[in-house]
Amino acid sequence: MANKMVLPLFFVFSVLASFSHALVQDFCVADLKSPDTPAGFPCKKVSLVTEKDFVYSGLGVAGNTSNLIKAAVTPAFTAQFPGVNGLGISLARLDLAVGGVIPFHTHPAASEVLLVVEGTICAGFVSSANTVYFKTLNKGDIMVFPQGLLHFQINSGKGGALGFVSFSSANPGLQILDFALFGNELPTDIVAKTTFLDPATIKKLKGVLGGSG
Ligand SMILES: *[C@@H]1O[C@H](CO)[C@@H](O)[C@H](O)[C@H]1NC(C)=O
Repeated sequence: MANKMVLPLFFVFSVLASFSHALVQDFCVADLKSPDTPAGFPCKKVSLVTEKDFVYSGLGVAGNTSNLIKAAVTPAFTAQFPGVNGLGISLARLDLAVGGVIPFHTHPAASEVLLVVEGTICAGFVSSANTVYFKTLNKGDIMVFPQGLLHFQINSGKGGALGFVSFSSANPGLQILDFALFGNELPTDIVAKTTFLDPATIKKLKGVLGGSG
C-alpha cells in the first residue's frame, strides 16, 4: 500500500517543483541601465520590481502631429514600458491629423494589429510577392500587418483619426522607407541607380527629408 503511494507522490512533487521553478521566470522587467541585447534587456532584480513596472500611462495623451507627416506614433515599447521586456508584446498609439500619413515602413521584428478607435484610416501592406492588400477601416475595425512587410496608414477621413497598434515583440523596430532612401547621405547617383528615380526628384526629397549628397 505504502509503496503504491510513493510513485504518485513523487510525481506530484516533481510537478510542483517545476511550477515553482517556472514562477521565478514569470517576467523579466527590463533593467534599462544595462545595455540592450538581441535577446532583450537584462532583468531588473525581482526584489526591486513593483506594480509600476507593469503599468504605463503614456498612451492617454495625443502625440504632436505638427510635423511633415501630420501624424504621431507614441510607443509603449521596452524603452518606455520596461514590463513588456521578454514578453513578445508591445503597443503604440497612432494619432493622424487631417491629411496625416504614416508613410511606408516596416517593423523587422514584429507583426502588427491596428485597431481604429476614431475616424477613418486607409491602411495596407505589400506582400513579398508584391501583391497589395489595402482597405479603408472605420471605428472598431482591426487589420493585421504581417512581420517585416512594408505597410502604411493614411487618414482618409474629414476629421482626426486615432488608432492603437499592438506588436508581437517588445521591441518591434521601425524602418521608414522614405527616410531610408532620402533621409541620409547616400549619394544621389547611387540612389538614382538603385531606385530608377531621376536625380532632381531625389534631391528634392533629400531636401524635404533631411538627406544630403
Ligand atoms: C508640436 O511640435 C511643433 C513642431 O516641433 C512645436 O512647434 C510645437 O510647440 C509642439 N506642440 C506641443 C503642444 O508640444
